[in-house]
Amino acid sequence: MSAPSTVLVTGGAGFIGSHACVELLDHGYELIVVDNYSNSTPQVLTRVERIAGRFVGAIYELDIRDRHALSAVFDRHSVDAVVHFAARKAVGESTRMPVEYYDTNVGGTTALLRVMHEHGVHQLVFSSSCSIYGDAGSGLLDEATPARPTNPYAASKWTCEQILADVCRRCPEYTVLCLRYFNPAGAHPSGLLGEDPCRTPENLMPYVAQVAIGRRERVRVFGADYPTPDGTAIRDYLHVVDTVEAHRVALDHLADGPGMYVYNLGVGMGSSVLDVVATFSEACGRPIPYEVTARRPGDVAELVADATAVTRAWGWRPSRDLADMCRDAWRFQQLNPYGYAGSARRPNLKR
Ligand SMILES: NC(=O)c1ccc[n+]([C@@H]2O[C@H](COP(=O)([O-])OP(=O)(O)OC[C@H]3O[C@@H](n4cnc5c(N)ncnc54)[C@H](O)[C@@H]3O)[C@@H](O)[C@H]2O)c1
Repeated sequence: MSAPSTVLVTGGAGFIGSHACVELLDHGYELIVVDNYSNSTPQVLTRVERIAGRFVGAIYELDIRDRHALSAVFDRHSVDAVVHFAARKAVGESTRMPVEYYDTNVGGTTALLRVMHEHGVHQLVFSSSCSIYGDAGSGLLDEATPARPTNPYAASKWTCEQILADVCRRCPEYTVLCLRYFNPAGAHPSGLLGEDPCRTPENLMPYVAQVAIGRRERVRVFGADYPTPDGTAIRDYLHVVDTVEAHRVALDHLADGPGMYVYNLGVGMGSSVLDVVATFSEACGRPIPYEVTARRPGDVAELVADATAVTRAWGWRPSRDLADMCRDAWRFQQLNPYGYAGSARRPNLKR
């Protein structure tokens, strides 16, 4: 089977999805984007087109759980493969509204799988998460680390992985590449795309950026009593542009053969919350204020990838570091102090 040329991207207006669209447009793919804009805005896709200097082939506002609407998109376009980003992703929120998380993340994935199957599409790149490893202790986590999700978000991603693995075991026509991201962060170097959640950011970097620009008073550090060198939680931050480059490489490998393949995406090095605050302070040229508060339910002390398997399999490795992520996130925040909503709608291209 040859590499796909028309790719349907779910959640293509989101943080990682929008960067992926730029990367795939830059590499000649035809894109169909579906998004319900529950955590994004259509404006993002105008910016994607502006950066890429090309149009997204088609854009649909729909909920992936709406199989009717999704099916109509597959009827209209000849889709070779799907990159599935659409999901709810906030750990804290998932502990408050678990049903919504299972419905969107698991229900959305099974709805997508059904529609794909009905249309003879069996190639999928799936966004999973390091959160499935849960409280696995310190040290690098490889893909064989047992999953022990500690919150509904992580459990929803692990449930999706199990469903996808079972489907691949039973139906030899499927190829699923499951990418367990550690902590994608940063922004597009143009400053036009970045992380701009519709609600209060639950990820650290956009929160720090909003403090740096003066939208929030101080960073809340959730727990300084973890068994880590400075007591704050350690994560493996991966530049969003490195993250999406891995997806472009993944699409090339969908042709390798059927089955499910699972890879960690990370840099293999941990940074604490205070490391991020300090590095961002350097990027923006002033100290970022912070206060230590109680641990957040569902959080764990440390999650750092052993990401060597994906390098061995595909030759992909990240090339950007935490300073690059902070610099790019700060550029995005400076150019878009109130995010996408606060900026003028100025399409540069005519459709
Ligand atoms: N950002 C991270 O730190 C991180 C880490 C690990 C895994 N992931 C996974 O990566 C994927 C993308 O994450 P992101 O950071 O870009 O999130 P995001 O919220 O920025 O993007 C998700 C997009 O999906 C859309 N969406 C949500 N529910 C939908 C639905 N029912 N139908 C259609 N569209 C819907 C949202 O509007 C948004 O545009 C998610 O699956 C997430 O779980 C993210």
